[in-house]
Amino acid sequence: MPEFQPRVFSGVQPTGNLHLGNYLGAITKFVALQETHDCIYCVVDLHAITVPQNPAELKASIREVTAAFLAAGIDAKKHIVFNQSQVSEHAELAWVLNCVARLGWLTRMTQFKEKAGKDRENVSVGLYAYPILMAADILVYRATHVPVGEDQKQHLELARDIAQKFNLDFGEEIVALGHGDAFFPLPEPLIQGPATRVMSLRDGTKKMSKSDPSDYSRINLSDDADTIAQKIRKAKTDPEPLPREVEGLAKRPEAENLVGIFAALEGRSKAEVLEAYGGGNFSTFKSALIDLTVAKLTPIGEAMAKLAQDQAHIDAVLEDGAARARVLAAETMKAVKDIVGFVR
Ligand code: AMP
Ligand code: TRP
Repeated sequence: MPEFQPRVFSGVQPTGNLHLGNYLGAITKFVALQETHDCIYCVVDLHAITVPQNPAELKASIREVTAAFLAAGIDAKKHIVFNQSQVSEHAELAWVLNCVARLGWLTRMTQFKEKAGKDRENVSVGLYAYPILMAADILVYRATHVPVGEDQKQHLELARDIAQKFNLDFGEEIVALGHGDAFFPLPEPLIQGPATRVMSLRDGTKKMSKSDPSDYSRINLSDDADTIAQKIRKAKTDPEPLPREVEGLAKRPEAENLVGIFAALEGRSKAEVLEAYGGGNFSTFKSALIDLTVAKLTPIGEAMAKLAQDQAHIDAVLEDGAARARVLAAETMKAVKDIVGFVR
């Protein structure tokens, strides 16, 4: 493998409300990585239409996710923030990778099985092919590191498999064209910390998700302090006091989830949180969790609301980001065309 320039890429779908899971699993990592890496953060609107969307709501959601990125502290001048559909190279590379990936690889994707459910014959082809577009998103920038929540791990493994197969299938051309022995890096997932999988507040065995019909299952970035307090107070727990050690969280999914959220919000480990709250009851712990969550999230929600009033600014950020992303993506696409054997 040649030395690839370190570069971070990640994406968030503009569908529904952004929640605490998105924030802790992804967005806080995006913010931190800006200090050490060149970063590209994408609002993946092409992914959103794999299931039906209301066009007016989709537009609003794209702007809302952009506002959330900015409100959380992503610097769109130093790094790149844009929406996927403005850079056509994503879809173009996805086609080439469609012809590299194998059907059997896709049938193993658990998220597709979950999302398609019993209606498998009737979902869009896009929903099935989605992980290939995700691979294209990353590889069109030859990104090396991808911060995501735990639920995206399998998709990233697929992206690595696709990159590797491309490198092998076109090995001779890649060498002949002077790219060394590999054209695409094998992108590394960054899935770390105490909240890589934030669970529903109503059921500790289910992921916190934008599509859960109960709003009490999640904390939205746009929730105000009262709503956050109410949701945490109502969050499901069990009758035991909190354990003093992390091992005591096993088989107690609701307790484990709340402790993980606390730890991630405070930048501490679960063990440290239990040192402070172990042995105590949930109501004391929940009060502290409410204060912490309100302190961390409400400034972001307020900044999002302010940004939402300036649509022209949001759209200008996306346009500027797309222009800069396009330069990088076009460079990759040119090389891919030469490698594959297209005349250009
Ligand atoms: P999505 O909303 O599916 O576009 O997800 C955007 C990012 O948030 C991805 O990196 C996901 O892995 C992450 N994410 C979504 N839900 C959760 C969750 N419940 N816990 C942790 N990370 C999550
Ligand atoms: N599939 C991711 C999700 O649902 C979003 C996504 C699309 C993504 N393309 C990506 C994440 C590329 C990381 C890298 O959450």
